[in-house]
Amino acid sequence: MRMRITGLILPLLLTVGCDDGPIRDDGGSLGPASGTTVNLTCTIDGCGEYAADNRYSVAIAAFREGDNFAVVSKPLSEGENVISLANIPADAAMAEVCIINRLRERVFTFASLPLNGEEVVDFDPGTLSTGMFRAIDSKIFATSCTQCHGATGHSAAGLNLTSAEAYGMLVGVPSTVIEGEERVKPGDASASTLWQAVATDISDGWAFAHRNLLTDTHIDFIEHWINSGAQ
Ligand code: HEC
Repeated sequence: MRMRITGLILPLLLTVGCDDGPIRDDGGSLGPASGTTVNLTCTIDGCGEYAADNRYSVAIAAFREGDNFAVVSKPLSEGENVISLANIPADAAMAEVCIINRLRERVFTFASLPLNGEEVVDFDPGTLSTGMFRAIDSKIFATSCTQCHGATGHSAAGLNLTSAEAYGMLVGVPSTVIEGEERVKPGDASASTLWQAVATDISDGWAFAHRNLLTDTHIDFIEHWINSGAQ
């Protein structure tokens, strides 16, 4: 993964690429304690889906205030992780267990820990479900969609997007709005009304225009989930 993004973040990697020792030998330019170390203990459930390609990863990452791009990150693996993220710059505001994309941009956050410049902090967020659909369900549908699609007892277009119903209401189910299409056609985002609704202007003629509901980062993630099989 690092090799492919070298052009963009090589300077960052050079700064933070080593977890210990060597950096302090080159004149101590980073100061006596080169930033914060976060000792993470957690269990990740649903990380394997991301392994097929390297577009997204589940990671421990540190962010500056107001910046969606991680300053330092390390990938996590399925099951128990006991891992240290070292050399976090003193001005980083937050350590997070999150999904990041290839540019190390934050896509979804599952657990976060405010940083106050301490040298070493423990971060123990327990068990986190990070699978693609779980993430879309809990981080997108629950916050931006269910108020019209299921949460109040009414489901616009007959589409209930609350957790218990969403998957079964979407994947392989014929659209009630566009004849002949599916809400989610596994492997084909552009033929799925879920993707069309949030990514295109197709819904401008519907009872509610959907196209400005989500960020491009989230739209790309939905597209990736559908195109990689909609598991
Ligand atoms: C303010 C209410 C409202 C919100 C919020 C909303 N929708 Fe909708 N949605 C509708 C309505 C109304 C329709 C039906 C449009 C029509 O029939 O003209 C619809 C239709 C749809 C359809 C088409 C269903 C089909 O059978 O093909 C999809 C997919 C959809 N919405 C997804 C979403 C998603 C995803 C979100 C959140 C990002 C969302 N909607 C948020 C009101 C809403």
